[in-house]
Amino acid sequence: MNRPLLMAPSILSADFTRLGEAVTLVEAAGADLIHVDVMDGHFVPNLTIGPPVVKALKRITKLPLDVHLMIDNADETVGWYLDAGADIVVVHVEACNHLHRIAQTAHAAGAQMGVSLNPGTPVSALEGIITEVDLVLVMGVNPGFGGQAFIPATVDRVREVADLARSKGVSPRIAVDGGIDPTTAPLVTAAGADMLIAGSAIFCAEDPSAALADIRSAAVTQLV
Ligand code: DX5
Ligand code: ZN
Repeated sequence: MNRPLLMAPSILSADFTRLGEAVTLVEAAGADLIHVDVMDGHFVPNLTIGPPVVKALKRITKLPLDVHLMIDNADETVGWYLDAGADIVVVHVEACNHLHRIAQTAHAAGAQMGVSLNPGTPVSALEGIITEVDLVLVMGVNPGFGGQAFIPATVDRVREVADLARSKGVSPRIAVDGGIDPTTAPLVTAAGADMLIAGSAIFCAEDPSAALADIRSAAVTQLV
């Protein structure tokens, strides 16, 4: 019996003029975490939000904030997000020189630490760090934008992460971010994912609460 599936709506596709309402809505709809996409216009070709917005969101929700740092300088700035109230900081293995130090910093702050892999990065990049992390976030698209098509090879990559974790005797959460909807969600839970991040499939839907429930119910049928 595995852990319960966690649903983390990504506010990237919410109406930025009404972010608070978007968070309140998905919280009431049973979201488990709020996924906050931080982009620096450098690691990824888009620029979004930073610590002040994380701090503001922290005031209006009881849900943990899952802060996804798509930035080049997380080695230097991860503390900003921890201070702002991030409950989980997720950094990219492609962007950090000191993953182990970031894990120590996050844990010392009482937060969790996750590592993320771009679609082109081999899962073996996790070999030296997987025993230290609480979460592995497998990108289902190239990071930078919401609403992109799911890359099918992600499913096998999730399975590889699950195998690597098992071989190391650890069981971090395995999250998939990008292209998640009621069709792709069960594919990745069947492969070992137990956390799903979805932006456009929730916030661009006519009824975001129903969309969240639809993704969850499609995914749990395949949870391993
Ligand atoms: C993409 C972000 C995702 C994004 C996913 O770079 O990291 O969190 O919001 O959006 P969808 O669910 O629309 O693919
Ligand atoms: Zn994200």
